[in-house]
Formats: sequence, C-alpha cells, structure tokens
Amino acid sequence: MCGIVGYIGYRPAQAVLLNSLQRLEYRGYDSCGLALLDHAIESHRSVGRVEDLKHVLTPSPATAGIGHTRWATHGGVTEANAHPHMDCKNNIAVVHNGIIENFQALKSQLLAEGHKFRSETDTEVIAHLIEKHFDGDLERAVGFALAEIQGSYAMAVLCIGCRKLIAARKESPLVVGVGDRENFIASDVAAVLDYTDRAIYLEDGDICTLSEREISISNCGKGVSRKTCPVTWTADQVQKGGYEHFMLKEIHEGPKAIADTMSDRLSLVEPSVILEVEKLRAARGVILTACGSSYHAALLGEYLLARLCRVSARAVISSEFDEVEPVLDKDLIIAITQSGETADVLRALRKAKSAECGTLAIVNVVGSTATRICDNTMFVQAGPEVSVAATKTFMAQMISMYLLALSNSVLDPRTMATLLESMKLLPAKVNEVLLGESQIAAQAARLAKFDDAFFVARGINYPIAMEGALKLKEVSYIHAEAYAAGELKHGSFALLGPRMPVVVLAPPDETYTNIQTSIKEIKARGAPVLAVVDKSDTELEGFADDLIRVPSVHPLLYPVLNTVALQLLAYYAARARGCPIDRPANLAKSVTVA
Ligand code: F6R
Repeated sequence: MCGIVGYIGYRPAQAVLLNSLQRLEYRGYDSCGLALLDHAIESHRSVGRVEDLKHVLTPSPATAGIGHTRWATHGGVTEANAHPHMDCKNNIAVVHNGIIENFQALKSQLLAEGHKFRSETDTEVIAHLIEKHFDGDLERAVGFALAEIQGSYAMAVLCIGCRKLIAARKESPLVVGVGDRENFIASDVAAVLDYTDRAIYLEDGDICTLSEREISISNCGKGVSRKTCPVTWTADQVQKGGYEHFMLKEIHEGPKAIADTMSDRLSLVEPSVILEVEKLRAARGVILTACGSSYHAALLGEYLLARLCRVSARAVISSEFDEVEPVLDKDLIIAITQSGETADVLRALRKAKSAECGTLAIVNVVGSTATRICDNTMFVQAGPEVSVAATKTFMAQMISMYLLALSNSVLDPRTMATLLESMKLLPAKVNEVLLGESQIAAQAARLAKFDDAFFVARGINYPIAMEGALKLKEVSYIHAEAYAAGELKHGSFALLGPRMPVVVLAPPDETYTNIQTSIKEIKARGAPVLAVVDKSDTELEGFADDLIRVPSVHPLLYPVLNTVALQLLAYYAARARGCPIDRPANLAKSVTVA
C-alpha cells in the first residue's frame, strides 16, 4: 500500500506527478503530496485524494519531483503525516512505501543527536538519516542510511543542489519508466503508461540514480545492469472508457479477460502449465495460498484439483501459512495473487522457498515480486485492474484454476472434450449474463435497503458465495456472510427473518435437490430469497422471492457465471447506496503490509 512516483526530464513535473499519482490511488488514498525540485524544494501535502491536493497547488516550472499517495500505517491521517517527509533543513525530501521496523530506535537516536521530527511516521527517519550521512554525495548518503534501516521500502529521494532522483527498493515494488530525455519511477507501471512503454523492474537491494538521460543501478555497492522490458499494458486500459466506475468497466471486461487467459492454453500446450503438471504429479502435497478474493479462487482450485485430478490440495489463507503443518520439500506451493505484491502471500512464498518446495505463482502483474520468488509463473491475462474490488482478475484466476486442473485431469477423453468445448463458450455466456444487467440492478436496489445479507451455496459454488459476500461488503458496506447451505442450520438460522435476505446459488448440478431443501427451510423462517438459477429453471420460481437467471453451461462452469451475477449485484447495491465504489473506505488494492 502507498504509491510513490518520481519524475526527472523536460516536462513540468507537477502535472506528470499528479497524473501518475492518480493512477496509483488504488494503493491508498488517505493523504497525498509531492515535492518539486528547482533551486529549492517546494513541498505540498493534503489529506484526502489527489483531486484535493490539486486545490493547494500553484503552477511550478520544476522539471523534477517526487510524489506519494498514502494508506496510513504509522501515524494518523493528518497533513503532518502525509509524505514527502523532509530533513531538519528542508534540503532533502523522501517518499516511501513500506515499513521501517526499527524506526523507534533510529528516531530516539536521531532525536538525541538533535534532529527535529515533525511527524509520527516511520518514513521521516529516512530523511534525517540521509541528512546525517550527507557530505555532498547523495548516493553514498542514501546507501549509508539504508544500511541502518530494517524493514521494507520502495523510496525516492530528492536533494537541493543535486539534479537527480535516487530510488531504492527492498520488498516493496518499484519500477523505472524509461523515456527519452526523461525518466520516471513508480510503484507500479500503470502510473507511467501515459509517458512510456519501456520499464525496468528493480530488484531487492537495488539503488537507482536517475537523471533525464541516465539510469544507473547498484546493488551491494556494485554496479548492476537490469533489463529494459517492453510494457504491453496501454494507457487506454487504465481509463474509465465511458463507464461511471472502473468496477463496472472491469466487470464488462470479464469476457475478454477470460478469453485472453484461455487463449491458446486450452490446447494445453502452455509451457508453465505442462511443467507444473509434472510437479503436481510428483508433489507430496499441494497447497494453494492467497488472500481475499484470490483465496476464493484458491478454494475453487482446491475443489477442481480434487474433482478433476484426484490430487489432494489444500487452500490456505496466506496470513495463516505459518500456522499450518510444516511445509516439506516435496510440497508444491501455488500462490494466487493478482498484484504479485501482497505481503502475506510473499511471506508464505519465502517460507516455501526456504523449505525448498516447488513454487508456482498465478499472477496478473508482470515483473511483480511473486514472479521473482517463484520457480514458475502462470500469468492471467486480465490487463490492468484499477478498481480496488477485484472483478475481472478474479474471473481470470478462476480460469487459471480450471486450466491447471484440466491439464492434469483424470477425466475420460469424452468428458474432457465436452468440458473444453463448454469452456470455449464462456466469454459469450458471460456476455449473456451482462445483458441481464438492468434486471440485476433493480434486484440490487432492493437488496441495498437491507443492512445484512447471507450468501449460500454448496460444493463448487460455495467459494463463489464467499466471493459474492466479500464483494457486497467491500463496495456497499452491507454486512454479508457466506455459508455452505447445509451449515446454516447449525447456528446461523437464529438470524433468519424478514430483515435477512439470503442470496442462494442454485445451479442445476448435483447440489440442486439439497439447495431446494435449504431454500424451503430459509423461506419457512421468513427470510427473503434471491436465487441465482439456470435460465431454464422452472422449479424455484414458486419458492424464491426473486430469481437471477444465468445461461446454461457445463455444471462445473456455473461458478464463472454466478460470479459475474454477484459482481453486478454488489456493484449496483453500492451504487444504490451512493458508496464510493472504486475507492471503498479503509482499503487499498495492493496490501503490501503484513
Ligand atoms: C477484494 C480484493 C482483495 C484481494 C486481496 C489479495 O476485492 O481485491 O481481497 O483479492 O487483497 O490481493 P492479491 O490478489 O493482489 O494478492
């Protein structure tokens, strides 16, 4: 969380930094700020969003600067705690994403040495440490300061009298955007798509010095060269494109994300999948690890690997990874992470690596840390996702789970062929669900009047009920909980009644009869039921209060269609309640703190 940017070149830096910061707001939006380097350093900060910061700015001719958008960790949401942070003499400005673990000890020491602090943040110690070590050589001073710091960082530094930017990373993402007569740094390549399509993904321990014409990188005191990579994402992909919210745009991009993720992999020649097949077979155990929505994709994966491959896999929430039985060198660890930067996931992966397990990352962001830790990476092809709530990337992660399971399946060839054919139709089927949008919007407006909701399903759709509940909570602030349908009567029935709507996933698979029974039991307690059913369903019309109909598909593929229906339901419920859909309270898209 927190996003940092930096620019040095020929354009007015203020406009570039503001634009880039807006692209990074998904990383945090408690406060923001920038520092511009001319003859002096001019710093501006504001609580709230980049839009608020714009109001306190005056035009500046500076062509170099750094910026920050904050998700508060150390210190409250105040202007004093907003970045950039300065040294005592306002000569050095620092922006930082990460956590300085030994900041209390460093701060006490610096205070004793006479440094004056103005914030409660951990970041401010970096500015004072650089000040302490600065003798005219900024790179050296940054190097000495970093040697004293324990923790994680992506940071950028400006200093009066030095026309350059110094950037450094350890366990927090940082990308250099390579331009002509200008260079950029950013937490994420999405921030610089308007200016360049070339990037260098910095490695842990790298310290990078940028001027308008040069980029030099050192690691452990030695010069290193890093590859400049083409960037395939485009600026158009991070615009709203006529939609009111990124979330809705990204739900509508679901069919493309699904098609792109399948692309030619359906022929099962995807090299990383094939490689993993060997590892899957050799593995003692398979652990799928992830957080949040990605964890729900992992649960789907657990089900599919058992059902299609007879492989016993377990989905483990990454922050609980330390608590599970010790991983062994013959285990295969599959991490599912859209950003590839989630701290809990990275920690789990590092533990797996130290136990010499095989590791596979299923990731959306090229160059992200997970891709560097893991032996193999399978990229989902969802394109950049801006809305904090994951939608199209979740669809693409589900598709990856199907691909992984299919490539190792023990299904007979005929069943396999039927399933593959049905998968090819998924983009069109999802489009059909999207055509029912206005009806789902009306149903969502009714749901929006309640403060609580249950989501209920059985079998392969249970993770989707969990995802539906998470999505509704996240964007509409309606309290929602998901249950395996059979579990409701073991306690939670106590909450059923006219103020507890229940969304039931009732596809025509082997769970259908039991789900019908659950619906009757729920209705008998007076709770309104909204059932998501196949379009040809005739039996539930009489029982449920309302129906969302999805197209017919192979029984194992209803999770994909149900997901889209529930995403639309959450979106329109949030809209009916007037919520800030793309930027829900207290959240950030990339959770880079443990
Ligand atoms: C919910 C959501 C989060 C993420 C979670 C993991 O809509 O987006 O729950 O799924 O923070 O993020 P990644 O996949 O980047 O590891």
